[in-house]
Amino acid sequence: MLEVSGLSFHYQPHVPVLTDLTFSVLDGEIVGLLGKNGVGKTTALKLILGLLPLEKGSICLGNYSLYLHPIQYKKQINYVSDSHDIYNNLTGKEYLNFIADMYEVSSETRGKNYTPLIEAFQVEKYLNSPIKKLSHGTKQKIAIIASLVNDPLLWVLDEPMMGLDVEAVQVLKELIKSRAACGKSVLFSSHILEICENLCDKIVIMQAGTIKKTIELRGNSSYILEDIYLEVVNDVPME
Ligand SMILES: Nc1ncnc2c1ncn2[C@@H]1O[C@H](COP(=O)(O)OP(=O)(O)OP(=O)(O)O)[C@@H](O)[C@H]1O
Ligand SMILES: [Mg+2]
Repeated sequence: MLEVSGLSFHYQPHVPVLTDLTFSVLDGEIVGLLGKNGVGKTTALKLILGLLPLEKGSICLGNYSLYLHPIQYKKQINYVSDSHDIYNNLTGKEYLNFIADMYEVSSETRGKNYTPLIEAFQVEKYLNSPIKKLSHGTKQKIAIIASLVNDPLLWVLDEPMMGLDVEAVQVLKELIKSRAACGKSVLFSSHILEICENLCDKIVIMQAGTIKKTIELRGNSSYILEDIYLEVVNDVPME
């Protein structure tokens, strides 16, 4: 279980981006993080990943706190970023091996974890090309594959459907469901309400750098997410 408690963060003095952000992701739960452009979703995900320094608040995953046990904490997590430009000079295969090395995954296990994903996303033919020569969607598929090498307890994805073709979106949706079905947690940001509605157990809507509303969707199809979302982000009083 991921527990995020009282996070505050700013990039520039006196310009808060996150204020007292608190939410959780249970084991086996799929949680969607929604909110307007610039509200702080990517910033919150980067803090959870330990990519930005924790200023205030606490983040725990499973038995480990990010602050107290950063290495053990980070070994249990993996992610798909919203941009892939930093590894442009590696080939797809080198990138997959680099991520597996970072997580100290043996060659036997990385083969077992990668092979079905390479097949599902049909990217075998691109793996010997430098990443900079690949299309956005192909880079995204390779990033998704790499992010599952350590069988993470928490899988974090920042707008993962962006630029994927229809087949790849289907593959990704099935992967997200299958992670949850085996008790692993998934947290992703998105602007696509239909996908969130179909996939998520819980929706967390951010506004003004904090959580404005949490909606439990599991088993409840009577919600119309678009109406609720627009009410929340436009600050319309709810009935
Ligand atoms: N490196 C940075 N330095 C300064 N300000 C930043 C930096 N990164 C983000 N910000 C600011 O922090 C705020 C939150 O940005 P963030 O990228 O977290 O939003 P977001 O909710 O992910 O938006 P989007 O839906 O467009 O992806 C924005 O005002 C943004 O301009
Ligand atoms: Mg973002």
